[in-house]
Amino acid sequence: MGEIQRHVIFLLLLSVFSSPAMADDAAIMEKLAKSLFPAPTGWTGSNPCKWTGVSCDSSNRIISIGLSSKSLSGSLPSDLNQLKNLKSLSLQRNQLSGPLPSLSDLSNLQSVFLDNNNFSSVPSSFLSGLTSLQTFSISENPGLEPWTIPEGLADSSNLMEFLASRANIVGSIPDLFGKLTSLKSLKLSYNNLTGSLPLSLAGSSIQTIYLNNQQQGLSGRIDVLGSMTELMQVWLHVNKFSGPIPDLSKCTSLFDLQLRDNQLTGVVPSSLTTHPTLANISLGSNILQGPYPAFGRAKVDLGTENNWCNPVPGPCDSQITILLMVVADLGYPMTVAESWKGNDACKGWIFVSCEQGKFVTGLNFGNQNWTGQISPAIANLTSLKNLLLNDNNLTGTIPHSLTTLKDLQLLDVSNNNLSGKIPNFAPNVTVKSEGNPLMNGKASDVNLSGKNSVVVIAVAVVVAALLVGILLFFTYKCYKKKRTSNYGIVQIPNRKNRSKSHKNGKVKPHNEDEDKEEDVHVYSGGNVSISLEVLRQVTDNFSEEYVLGRGGFGVVYRGVLLDGTVVAVKRMESALVDSGLSEFQAEISVLSKVRHRHLVALTGFCMAGNERLLVYEYMPQGTLAQHLFHWSELGIPPLTWKQRVVIALDVARGVEYLHGLAQETFIHRDLKPSNVLLGDDMRAKVSDFGLVKNAEKGKHSMETRLAGTFGYLAPEYATTGKVSTKVDVYAFGVILMELITGSKSLDETRPEEQKHLVTWFRRLQKNEIMNLLDPTLHTDEEMFGSISKVSELARHCTAREPYQRPDMGHAVNVLAPLVDQWRPSHQYEDSFDVGDQMSLSRELERWQEEDSTITATSLRPSEFPDSISSRGLQ
Ligand SMILES: Nc1ncnc2c1ncn2[C@@H]1O[C@H](COP(=O)(O)OP(=O)(O)O)[C@@H](O)[C@H]1O
Ligand SMILES: *[C@@H]1O[C@H](CO)[C@@H](O)[C@H](O)[C@H]1NC(C)=O
Ligand SMILES: *[C@@H]1O[C@H](CO)[C@@H](O)[C@H](O)[C@H]1NC(C)=O
Ligand SMILES: *[C@@H]1O[C@H](CO)[C@@H](O)[C@H](O)[C@H]1NC(C)=O
Ligand SMILES: *[C@@H]1O[C@H](CO)[C@@H](O)[C@H](O)[C@H]1NC(C)=O
Ligand SMILES: *[C@@H]1O[C@H](CO)[C@@H](O)[C@H](O)[C@H]1NC(C)=O
Ligand SMILES: *[C@@H]1O[C@H](CO)[C@@H](O)[C@H](O)[C@H]1NC(C)=O
Ligand SMILES: *[C@@H]1O[C@H](CO)[C@@H](O)[C@H](O)[C@H]1NC(C)=O
Ligand SMILES: *[C@@H]1O[C@H](CO)[C@@H](O)[C@H](O)[C@H]1NC(C)=O
Repeated sequence: MGEIQRHVIFLLLLSVFSSPAMADDAAIMEKLAKSLFPAPTGWTGSNPCKWTGVSCDSSNRIISIGLSSKSLSGSLPSDLNQLKNLKSLSLQRNQLSGPLPSLSDLSNLQSVFLDNNNFSSVPSSFLSGLTSLQTFSISENPGLEPWTIPEGLADSSNLMEFLASRANIVGSIPDLFGKLTSLKSLKLSYNNLTGSLPLSLAGSSIQTIYLNNQQQGLSGRIDVLGSMTELMQVWLHVNKFSGPIPDLSKCTSLFDLQLRDNQLTGVVPSSLTTHPTLANISLGSNILQGPYPAFGRAKVDLGTENNWCNPVPGPCDSQITILLMVVADLGYPMTVAESWKGNDACKGWIFVSCEQGKFVTGLNFGNQNWTGQISPAIANLTSLKNLLLNDNNLTGTIPHSLTTLKDLQLLDVSNNNLSGKIPNFAPNVTVKSEGNPLMNGKASDVNLSGKNSVVVIAVAVVVAALLVGILLFFTYKCYKKKRTSNYGIVQIPNRKNRSKSHKNGKVKPHNEDEDKEEDVHVYSGGNVSISLEVLRQVTDNFSEEYVLGRGGFGVVYRGVLLDGTVVAVKRMESALVDSGLSEFQAEISVLSKVRHRHLVALTGFCMAGNERLLVYEYMPQGTLAQHLFHWSELGIPPLTWKQRVVIALDVARGVEYLHGLAQETFIHRDLKPSNVLLGDDMRAKVSDFGLVKNAEKGKHSMETRLAGTFGYLAPEYATTGKVSTKVDVYAFGVILMELITGSKSLDETRPEEQKHLVTWFRRLQKNEIMNLLDPTLHTDEEMFGSISKVSELARHCTAREPYQRPDMGHAVNVLAPLVDQWRPSHQYEDSFDVGDQMSLSRELERWQEEDSTITATSLRPSEFPDSISSRGLQ
């Protein structure tokens, strides 16, 4: 029968059949037949219901098409979904190609097999409205254009199997499979799925889930497996899943668990090693921790790439057991899993510091953005001194057990999301807890809400009254003494007088007597006086809990002022008040005159009876000495080379300002790492001006009472008491040497010829400096150059003769390009920090030239731009 004749007969037949739908079915079947090559055997005759592998219902509509393994090529007609009664479509194991037709709204379709072909693409509304679908298979169609699992599949509430391995699926696993309550088998291996396991899979009845070998890899935690209780076979290997292996004891039929080649962390739960039905399990190439797991009869692949504490079964070292319990409550973070190898926590484990090489004394988990809880097991680390958990996202309460830690000195839980009360720690434990809005009880922050507001207002009124009183008092005195007028509530240096006297060349030599004489001058032009009551209140009556540190002249406390600013309150030892008085006055005198982004700002002071208090801006990262010499005990990471160079430059800039930019020449005289304080950005400010001497311009060297700290004293200062700015340059050079070597300037425990760092350092040849390098610094080529330059500068600054040493401006010029090396173009300094960049002498000139009319405004120190702040006010 010829093609044309066949068509004529077909059309005749159409008119004979009553149902037009049925006729459509025949037409589509005809199209299908014609698009397949070779034509399927047995597909002859005008009635497709008679064709081999095709069946129809009683109304002669097509209900199934079976063409599997027929070596067919060709493609499918796009209107195949006109076969409205189709229940089964089996086209698997051929070489069919071309775009797939939409199957949408085939509401009778129960099974679809398209696997093992070479289809090229999936239409947009491929699988929606398939309300009867039970089995769908499209696996092994690697030529498909990338497609995502259609959301319309959610209509298929009877789906039992969805098989789509190696089908070039991209995107994430949609949230719909968990809702398909009949789903037993989900196979999506060898695709390019990304994202995580949907939590909606919890409670599903899936028995077989294959998600292995995704090209980019699925990620996230796999906890949801624990609540998929019907699971039998789980293949998740070769992905990027992370977090711990969940408790799978509720999966009572599980026999095949493939987890190898992921990033799973933590201890293998005992519920897994003792799981009664597990027969086949792989865990290799993860970052699993803890004891080497001992499975019973199961066939196990543990690989070689996990971080078990021992290569054979058996318990870990007891400190490790505890540490692993601690990180279990933090979800076994990946950084920890990667670093914590072997059976000795004191062998370079990240975040852990030890003493005597065996006792864990510090845990620094600060700033890691971790979620989880504070483990009560921390209390079993009985030598612990420092526990830093700040700046994470921890919830829950501070465990009571921590109060049993006898050596604990510092607990920092600030900036988390903790709740409950702070347990009662011994008074010698510093607890930092601010930034936990849900925490109540003995929180360190001053509570400004509720009942307290009455107290706050009352205190504020008292403070204001006192302030006005003090101001009136001093203004009166000032007026009497100096006849300078116009002080409002101003905290600006009294530069008017100084500039004038300076210009007239009438500056008298500064000495301690004159400082005393000028008491009034100091206070009137200085900073805000703060009442003793307020300072008592913000430090909980100078409670041990708030101690930041102890210095030569007193104790430094942390406090939060009523306006929320965090401050450091330095309280002079009362026994030293007399001898400390001149220091006190000197500090106020100097600090009120100088403001610079690299000098610690004085925000207030208090003198009452025997009390002498100074209020400074708070420097949250403490001293350079802590970061350089005590990082290990404190459980903090050592400073990187970049950080060291930035700190050196900051110090150089601060001291340069003291020496020249502040119009008069100030000499610090006690530069050392414990007087360099660090902010959270690890930028440095110079502090402790108690010993600063105001040196007169043009008379740069003067003899004074010896002060300072051994190890940093310039030779001429130590022997003759001659002090000049070069004394600070020398001390700065010593600090540079300490930054390079990580060694203290004086260390009696070192061998004789190494006790004095400067002597040791200067004796070495340039090419030998690397032998002295801080062992925590790992050098590369670029750093090598940078270190050589800083070493050279350190030598130069510590030259024997003062005139051989450079000035601080030179140090800035050497260091600045080394910093810029890492921060090439953009915003190394904030925009207002013009002063640092300008030439010092030019800046100084401009400063002096400007008109010196004081306009009284009520600017607060914080509103001053840094270094050149006061200029605009004059
Ligand atoms: N502004 C501040 N911010 C934070 N901590 C500070 C501040 N000032 C001082 N400290 C802490 O208090 C300790 C003692 O400071 P200080 O009295 O200035 O020491 P010293 O008198 O020995 O120079 C410092 O080592 C530091 O840990
Ligand atoms: C699959 O189809 C593509 C073109 O779409 C073709 O290049 C390829 O050779 C085919 N593969 C097989 C196994 O037939
Ligand atoms: C896998 O998908 C990602 C995007 O999700 C894409 O960047 C990547 O190229 C894909 N990989 C392959 C091999 O197609
Ligand atoms: C265990 O799983 C691997 C990989 O899936 C398979 O090759 C092996 O045959 C399985 N063995 C048993 C005993 O089930
Ligand atoms: C912190 O973690 C949250 C999720 O836990 C994440 O959304 C956020 O981006 C993270 N922030 C940083 C700075 O890593
Ligand atoms: C921790 O200490 C408690 C009580 O002191 C003890 O019962 C527990 O066994 C210890 N845990 C570990 C892991 O040492
Ligand atoms: C903290 O964790 C919660 C949930 O654990 C999350 O919703 C929130 O975004 C996280 N916050 C930050 C700042 O990471
Ligand atoms: C802190 O004080 C307690 C007594 O209250 C004492 O047992 C403990 O040793 C002290 N800790 C330190 C580090 O000084
Ligand atoms: C803190 O935790 C509470 C629940 O304990 C949560 O509702 C809130 O979103 C969390 N806040 C942040 C900033 O993560």
